[in-house]
Amino acid sequence: MSELKSQVRPEKRRAFLTKLSLGLGGLAAAAASVPVIAALLNPWLREKKRVWRSVGRVDEFEREGGFKLVKYKDAAPDPWAGSTGNSAAWLRRDSDTEFTAFSINCTHLGCPVRWVPSSELFMCPCHGGVFYKDGSVATGPPPKSMVKYPVRVRNGQVEIETTAIPVTTSVRV
Ligand code: FES
Repeated sequence: MSELKSQVRPEKRRAFLTKLSLGLGGLAAAAASVPVIAALLNPWLREKKRVWRSVGRVDEFEREGGFKLVKYKDAAPDPWAGSTGNSAAWLRRDSDTEFTAFSINCTHLGCPVRWVPSSELFMCPCHGGVFYKDGSVATGPPPKSMVKYPVRVRNGQVEIETTAIPVTTSVRV
């Protein structure tokens, strides 16, 4: 009888230890995956802030005078962003109260585009992306039109409704 007991005990112990190590291993794997899952979900869970930024008085912009570079604080700068928390847009006055504003960031990989008045095109210096003056893609790798911001006039100030810097997540090469 005592011999039978001594043969069963090690098996039970082994089974218990196997279950225990599997359970602890599972817990460790779950704990390790939390930061990875959080990092993957962060772009979707993070609130997309939209903020109205004043970029100058209405009379600072000539009517139909082409696009002018305006600078402002990014809509959702990280506390450690420093000067990278600054952003910019291309702004054109279309009438007394109407304006058009495009994000300065190329829709390919985010490089700042440049307005070339002589050709009436936006040029991206990084990979040769070109946009027409209505923001649509003329040529190059950008997968979509330039990002257009809503514009309003309040108390004689031109305001742009900005968002965090637009970044394309799926890229055509
Ligand atoms: S970032 Fe503008 S073309 Fe690539």
